Amino acid sequence: VGARIVCIIIGYVFGMIQTAVFYGRLKGVDIRKVGSGNAGTTNTLRVLGPKAGAVVLLGDMLKCMVAIFITYLIFGRSNPEYIILFMTYTAAGTVLGHDFPFFLKFKGGKGIACTAGYTIYLSIQFNILFLIMGLISFFLPFNLFHIVSVCSLFYYSALLVTTIIYGQMGLFFAPQGALIEVYIIVAILTLLAFYQHRGNIKKLINGQERKTYIFKKNKV
Ligand code: G3P
Repeated sequence: VGARIVCIIIGYVFGMIQTAVFYGRLKGVDIRKVGSGNAGTTNTLRVLGPKAGAVVLLGDMLKCMVAIFITYLIFGRSNPEYIILFMTYTAAGTVLGHDFPFFLKFKGGKGIACTAGYTIYLSIQFNILFLIMGLISFFLPFNLFHIVSVCSLFYYSALLVTTIIYGQMGLFFAPQGALIEVYIIVAILTLLAFYQHRGNIKKLINGQERKTYIFKKNKV
């Protein structure tokens, strides 16, 4: 139990590094007051352009990967069969720190770029399949609709399904009890992603959800 709590805490601390807020301040914008008001890659891209979006995406992915690497050094190396468990607890901590940073009155982002960092780490540690799954489940709907919230929710659902299938094929080389924990955490993170997108879902139903283009100028 102790190791799990430490993973969540380390993740939370890294998750609180709000790349979008810091980068926005640097450019003289309060990212939480413009556009969708979300402190994430998509809103930064729409408000400040593709370069800014790329910086925020990278920053938010990296903070999750660095946190996972640290808990890997502390716990994973000596307990290789529990690596997936420590990775997942740490990623969950990062998403919590990103979505609910206590020093910003718990108003952060939606945790998608952090989760992309987790997905990349899964690809490095286990199988490139995770990255391929992430890219397909995100960019297929993106090319069709250009609505990032839809892509994010597709991607999260695909991550949950892939994790369960991969785990049940025995490819995480972890005990079944640890795997069940991993599935539960990823399922909770998926529900949390839907909850964080509740405003987007309402707008989707009303036909008012913003479209996002990577290289075209966006309506803010
Ligand atoms: O990653 C967040 C994205 O899914 C939605 O962002 O700014 O359109 O609410 P936004």
